[in-house]
Amino acid sequence: MKRRQFIKSTGLSTLTTLFGSSLWLNACHTEEDMIGEPNWIVEGRFETRLPIPPQVTNNVQLTAKTVSEEMISGKLTSLLSYRDGLMGPTITVASGSNINVRLDNNLLENTNIHWHGLIVPAEMEGHPKDYASSGNALEYLLPINQRAGTYWYHPHVHGSTARQVFMGLAGMFIVTDQNEAALQLPSGEFDLPLIIQDKRFDGPSLNYSPSQDEIMTGYLGEQILVNGVFSPFVAVANTWYRLRLLNGSTARVYNLAMTNNIAFHIIGSDGGLLQTSEHEMSLMLGPGERADVLVDFSSRSHGAEVFLTSNKFSKYELQGRQSFSILKFKVELHSTSAFSLPSILSSIQRISEASAMRTRTFDIAALVGGGHEGMARHAINSKTYAQERIDETVEAGATEIWEFDNSRGDEIHPMHIHGVQFQVLHRSGGRNALIATERGWKDTVLVMPGEHVRIIMTFPQHKGLFVLHCHNLEHEDDGMMLNYEIV
Ligand code: C2O
Ligand code: CU
Repeated sequence: MKRRQFIKSTGLSTLTTLFGSSLWLNACHTEEDMIGEPNWIVEGRFETRLPIPPQVTNNVQLTAKTVSEEMISGKLTSLLSYRDGLMGPTITVASGSNINVRLDNNLLENTNIHWHGLIVPAEMEGHPKDYASSGNALEYLLPINQRAGTYWYHPHVHGSTARQVFMGLAGMFIVTDQNEAALQLPSGEFDLPLIIQDKRFDGPSLNYSPSQDEIMTGYLGEQILVNGVFSPFVAVANTWYRLRLLNGSTARVYNLAMTNNIAFHIIGSDGGLLQTSEHEMSLMLGPGERADVLVDFSSRSHGAEVFLTSNKFSKYELQGRQSFSILKFKVELHSTSAFSLPSILSSIQRISEASAMRTRTFDIAALVGGGHEGMARHAINSKTYAQERIDETVEAGATEIWEFDNSRGDEIHPMHIHGVQFQVLHRSGGRNALIATERGWKDTVLVMPGEHVRIIMTFPQHKGLFVLHCHNLEHEDDGMMLNYEIV
């Protein structure tokens, strides 16, 4: 039974009570049924060289525009970009400095930029109300005063975010600092930014046209791109590499791993370095999340091929039922550089729960009515986004615990808060535990079906309006977002 029919035939109120888990999905799809279906991942031949977006450092000028690129099989694809090429440039800034970015909007629609993970003044951070209409420009003045780490930027106009990101508007934003530099982590060509996104193609054209069902499940493409290229490879040396992994997909979750028994040494999360590295064979990464990992190719022989893959993680959702390769590493360069992993990477002061002035709970499971053709809509605390309504008010400098409750939900919700970095306290239900990246600073936390996640944070002094939302961008554009104000 399709969700649309299901909602029509049973009415909304019974949705979460009868089907708190996704068993009903399980009943109608088996793996064999899925091959060749929409959402079933198609792998390529890993013959296209991985491009690395250019780095820019100060007085950045970006033009949001339509460009044509050869994305598949000798044909031109029209996409959106911030430059003449795939994916925005990587903006790299030292902590403690200011950066100017001018955005020229050459699209035929409104756009803006949100600096995902950066702690910047409310007027600069890309709230949905602040945008440039077609032909106009925005100037961002960003004071960067935060930990070194892997952040990113993308548009944030309500209702258009998912499509604009899917069509190509996104880039990485790297903050550096002296603490991190002192560790002498792999750098330069040994530091690879990897923006992972799934796309759907229709011939050579990118196809973003979610059905009502796909607004529910999230829009899942069949082709996995890294830095804008389908099925790429990268030539590497027999040494250590830093991989800056960014899940820039609208809805797809990856359960990342390396083949050939290579481990991830997880060194960082959304908000920079962990205290100590964590050795893991796989790592879940939801939309909007980042992970910094080190991988060691030094014992691989010349000519070895290693893949970055996504392993199965769920037997009942539309996604997670397939394992697939994303990027091929060909070990064919020689290196004599020695690297040893520092035992302490950074210091992370735990925020004490006793210091929290208040706990707020957000119900992210319940849908509300009012959608197209009687469809349900995504909501937080049964509210869909209204630009003029302030949903929560918090005090600058206050410490609070927020809880995202998906315990009765059957969908995946990566929850993101603007303007702050938080710590994850606890996860109950579902996976019932924290993962390695969740022992560091976070701005986005993956809340799987059945899970209840508690986080803690101290709000910065930047007063004004921010949002919190689901980073499944179909859910976000459907209304799964609230305003909060720092006063
Ligand atoms: Cu990456 Cu509000 O978004
Ligand atoms: Cu969601």
